[in-house]
Amino acid sequence: MQLSGSISGTAYKMQAEPNILPRKIIIAIDGFSSCGKSTLAKALARKLGYNYIDSGAMYRAVTLFIQQNGITLEELSGMSEEQLEKMLDHIQITFRLNSDSGFSEIYLNDINVEEKIRDLKVSDWVSPVSAIPAIRKRMVRKQQIYGKNKGIVMDGRDIGTKVFPNAELKIFMTASKNVRAKRRFDELTEKGFMVTMDEVSKNIEDRDSKDTTRKESPLRQAEDAVLLDNSNLNQEEQLQFAMDLVSTLKTA
Ligand code: DC
Repeated sequence: MQLSGSISGTAYKMQAEPNILPRKIIIAIDGFSSCGKSTLAKALARKLGYNYIDSGAMYRAVTLFIQQNGITLEELSGMSEEQLEKMLDHIQITFRLNSDSGFSEIYLNDINVEEKIRDLKVSDWVSPVSAIPAIRKRMVRKQQIYGKNKGIVMDGRDIGTKVFPNAELKIFMTASKNVRAKRRFDELTEKGFMVTMDEVSKNIEDRDSKDTTRKESPLRQAEDAVLLDNSNLNQEEQLQFAMDLVSTLKTA
């Protein structure tokens, strides 16, 4: 998927239940950091034969670009709108299907950065980077293009409030802080990142605080979003919860 183009390939044709709904819809999943949004979003996309887009990965890719080019946060915040637009013109983000996993992965200027963007170094900067209006504007525009043909599950912070305010289904996820920190710690260490629980907890707290208090599109539950606290739910239970919501749309 080019920033300006379409998503390449629809995963899960084999296992999907594409006729579960008479028409394609948009599913917006928002919530706090490390709530398992992407796990649920991927499972839903698989079940429905929909595309999945990780909007957080886009902000992470922009952050990685900034770090790779030696731009400091101070320099970034001092940039004019024009300078930011120029910088963004050098950032090409694409999603391409990984045929082994069945999910699309993110590429930054033609390099697969799916793993690299999960580094704590990127996590530490991504909230201030994503708070910059010009960056948000560019990403939101691209996200809206991805949803043009519907049949998409997108997760993030402002999907139900800003990117797709008319999404047919909106889920807002939360979980206790300890559960979230443990999940992210396990995920990172499994991938080989050397992190401590303390670092992970601090990063989550910090991002929650910055994401909910920023001026532009702060993280909040859309009025018509269904709240899902998954502190005590396993992945199957969460998927069932979401599929039950999808089923209610059949007759709506
Ligand atoms: O989903 P994630 O944790 O990978 O997202 C990383 C950061 O990107 C998150 O802390 C805030 C920002 N983000 C955002 O501002 N809007 C989105 N729609 C998605 C992510």
